[in-house]
Amino acid sequence: MKNSLLLSLALMTAMPVAAAKLSMPSDAPKSYESECASCHMAYQPGLLGQKNWLNIMADLGKHFGSDASLDDKTQSEISKWLIKNASSDRKYSAVAPENRITKSAWFIKEHAEVKAEVWTRPSVKSSANCTACHTDAATGNFSERKIRIPVK
Ligand code: HEC
Ligand code: HEC
Repeated sequence: MKNSLLLSLALMTAMPVAAAKLSMPSDAPKSYESECASCHMAYQPGLLGQKNWLNIMADLGKHFGSDASLDDKTQSEISKWLIKNASSDRKYSAVAPENRITKSAWFIKEHAEVKAEVWTRPSVKSSANCTACHTDAATGNFSERKIRIPVK
């Protein structure tokens, strides 16, 4: 009895730590929401490492086929904040091809069960569209309980 209580307490305190890594840091500048969440969701800095964020912020004029350029002040504010909050976890900070979260080794592995056809469904369109399946993606909760795969 006593041991199982201790165990469940240990689990309760361990779980939020794992989830917190992908949550949005509370010090996000307003510009991040206004400038980086108009075409897609505001990706949490913990989804990539420093190198990938640096690359992205250095080339906003040619941003995945879009022009996402910013004035110098905003560019610098967002860059500093992304670098500070980039992942240092070995899993999420490994350099991802094309600076894409969706091309990272962890992403491919975690999504191995998703069939190719699912990614092209009209309400999904792109694997970068996290919120199509992760109903709580904006808060950084990617847990299985919060996944709803759209049927079309
Ligand atoms: C004008 C629209 C637009 C703005 C503004 C914009 N993006 Fe993007 N972003 C895109 C498009 C389009 C893609 C590619 C999406 C796809 O492949 O489905 C993309 C992809 C990304 C990806 C890679 C997603 C993946 O495939 O893993 C990251 C990271 C990203 N953007 C970060 C940012 C940041 C940081 C900002 C703000 C400085 C920003 N974006 C502003 C249009 C935009
Ligand atoms: C087509 C639906 C779909 C899209 C779009 C999608 N995911 Fe997922 N995601 C899943 C499924 C299904 C799993 C596997 C759940 C499992 O087996 O536990 C998963 C797993 C994950 C996990 C691991 C969760 C855990 O608890 O282990 C993370 C993190 C994650 N996704 C992040 C993302 C991010 C970030 C994006 C956008 C860049 C994204 N996903 C886009 C369906 C999707």
